[in-house]
Amino acid sequence: MRYYLTTAIDYVNSRPHLGTAYEKITADVIARYQRGCGNEVRFLMGNDEHSQKVAAAGRKEGLTPLEWCDRMEGVFRSAWSALEIQPDVFIRTSEPRHREAVQALAQRIKDAGDFYEGEYEGWYCVGCEAFKRDEDLKDGLCPDHANRKPEWLKEKNWFFRLSRWCEPLKAHFAANPSFVLPESRRNELLALLDRGLEDISVSRTGTDWGIPFPFDERVVVYVWFDALINYITATGWPQDTASSAHWWPADLHLVGKDITRFHGVVWPAMLLSAGLPVPRKVFGHGFVNMSGGRMSKDAGRVTDPLELANTYGVAALRYYLCAEANFGQDLEFSEERLLARANSDLANGLGNLAARTAGMLTRWREGRVAAAPQSSALLARADAAVDTYQRCMEVLDLRGALAAATQIVTEANAHVDRTQPFAMAKDPARTAELDGVLAELVNSLLLACRLHHPFMPAKMEQLHLELTGTALDLTSSISGAKGARVLPGTILVKGAALFPRIETAKT
Ligand code: MSP
Repeated sequence: MRYYLTTAIDYVNSRPHLGTAYEKITADVIARYQRGCGNEVRFLMGNDEHSQKVAAAGRKEGLTPLEWCDRMEGVFRSAWSALEIQPDVFIRTSEPRHREAVQALAQRIKDAGDFYEGEYEGWYCVGCEAFKRDEDLKDGLCPDHANRKPEWLKEKNWFFRLSRWCEPLKAHFAANPSFVLPESRRNELLALLDRGLEDISVSRTGTDWGIPFPFDERVVVYVWFDALINYITATGWPQDTASSAHWWPADLHLVGKDITRFHGVVWPAMLLSAGLPVPRKVFGHGFVNMSGGRMSKDAGRVTDPLELANTYGVAALRYYLCAEANFGQDLEFSEERLLARANSDLANGLGNLAARTAGMLTRWREGRVAAAPQSSALLARADAAVDTYQRCMEVLDLRGALAAATQIVTEANAHVDRTQPFAMAKDPARTAELDGVLAELVNSLLLACRLHHPFMPAKMEQLHLELTGTALDLTSSISGAKGARVLPGTILVKGAALFPRIETAKT
């Protein structure tokens, strides 16, 4: 089966921070899981460039908006790659293919009678790139961008008849209970639909940084209207009909909870108006908070994910972000917690199991792995954990999936303490018994390795090579996990410590 997933595309006015990295890392985990299930995956990420704040960031450096965005493409791509995030497609909204898609979609909406000209007057927050009603502001300021005063705009604009799509959207929500998740986000959007939708202004005058409307070259398409279309541009639409029919609609739009409304209401309405299928699922993840507030450049609260990765390792960072909070809820970032998890779950847990298993096998068996015992309660439970893991991943419960993988490690470590292989090794009458225990440990590790792979790809690929002498097959790492066993006779290679203990936080 094909699986098409996307993240939000980032404004490139500043570098990636831990909050934006959180979304990309969790999406990458889901993409790798889907690949491991044997699915044909297309994982899309990209940059949202036609924003006023992006143009302003370039101006500050004496660059044109496009020169600035060219520079930022490298900054973003290299940050994502350092965090082991591997999209299949990376899109920029200034690309000609996107301009073509935006214009084609706008024309369809115009032909459907859903655009009309009107006068707009009201507050606009450049931080959100969105119009604000009086009740959205606190003391005249946007709660998310208190350092930027909203602008009063009075423009002749094109309006999108969002109101017309309120009832069809309600019907879609009713017929598809998992269209927007988690439940709390779905309820927010249902309440919004119950209040009724207002038409929205979708053009901007006085700037040429954007995509002109095909039927009115004097104005550019509002940045959100432009940005949402990237998801269908990246399927090849409108030119490549075979590819877009194959990949559209998307299986999952993973976005932050602040922009679920754009993805669960505005975007589907645009698609319905254009006569195109709507995405299958929108998941609104929580925020990474810091000192009680959302981590953001605008609020002056940011942590650099690359610095954290340098100190603790990419694997530990990715692991921490997925294990620390339920996916969908907020995560309060704490460097102490990151350090604690790196040391307890990884160094003392998985790392210790790998080190002691490899140590015992090389010392007593020259690395040679024996056949796993026919009936092993430990391996039966490990196989059952694969099912639990998959059930969790299918509903995007990343934390639950990790807990199932960790359980395999915890039980195997407890098995060492219980069976006392050191005592067995001293007794020649217990050779077969020792072989059996060592095989149970190696195979528990193999399963844990496969299940942890989407979360910590490079480390788990290294571990797999050491355990089996072969590269992990990334198209069956998960689908083939249950019942997977290291071939008897394989010589295990003891490598460098997988997760060395980190003594102090280098803050
Ligand atoms: N450009 C728009 C999205 C357009 S999608 C068609 C945008 N960009 S953003 O750079 O502000 O945010 C990118 C993503 O990062 C969004 O999904 C946003 O919710 C997410 N996050 C930004 N700060 C975050 C945290 N502190 N924590 C978690 N996610 C955060 O919005």
